[in-house]
Amino acid sequence: MNVIVFASRKGGSGKSTLAAHLAAQIKSSKSCLLIDADPQGSLTLWHKLRGTNEPPIKTAVNSVSAIVSAARRDGVEWVLIDTPPTVSAVVEDAIKNATMVIIPARPGVFDVNAVQETIQTCRSARKPYAVVLNGAPARRDDAESPIVTIAREALAKFKAPVWGGQITNRADLLMALGQGEGVREYYAEGRAAAEIARLWAAIERSVRAIRGTVSANGAMHKQAA
Ligand SMILES: Nc1ncnc2c1ncn2[C@@H]1O[C@H](COP(=O)(O)OP(=O)(O)OP(=O)(O)O)[C@@H](O)[C@H]1O
Ligand SMILES: [Mg+2]
Repeated sequence: MNVIVFASRKGGSGKSTLAAHLAAQIKSSKSCLLIDADPQGSLTLWHKLRGTNEPPIKTAVNSVSAIVSAARRDGVEWVLIDTPPTVSAVVEDAIKNATMVIIPARPGVFDVNAVQETIQTCRSARKPYAVVLNGAPARRDDAESPIVTIAREALAKFKAPVWGGQITNRADLLMALGQGEGVREYYAEGRAAAEIARLWAAIERSVRAIRGTVSANGAMHKQAA
């Protein structure tokens, strides 16, 4: 079983957004469980709008461990955990249970600076992690925005692995959430769906490398910016 934790002390970085879109990305044949460990309940709201209980969701307050253990016994393949923007017991517990931690960050100086604490928590727990630049300006003429490049340079100073792609700031991502959908379900041919698919492929690739079934070369949790 693979446990993907979305964590960042910075509010609004995209934890809940990425968790929802990636949950909808997981092929229905693979079993998936969502855990909403944030009392704000964003992922739970999306799940209510979805109205299908596919994938199922559980709420965690102080600890996720019991839910994760039960999911393992039930043979669940993927557990996606959304966490609050705090450094709290439930975030530490989620990271302790993680196969891999995804740290979304917007490409701004305050945002990039704020990921340091979450990186430290992952390092202390010896958990693989990767920063994912989210809400980025669109690439132009196949070149990334200077603010994305600056963010990568700042993250390189922390020696943090950073996903080589980006999730662009796109209305499709918001529109899909409002309908309880992932962007793949909302508009499969769109650019937002292509970026989410690419991020999911990178996560799957990293998880296989963490499990030792493929080489870690090029895996995003090894990729310093
Ligand atoms: N790539 C994106 N494009 C457009 N809107 C986005 C994108 N990423 C996030 N948003 C929007 O930005 C807002 C904040 O995102 P989100 O709620 O996912 O962040 P969060 O890290 O979960 O915040 P919190 O720490 O408060 O839980 C939401 O309205 C979300 O839909
Ligand atoms: Mg959230």
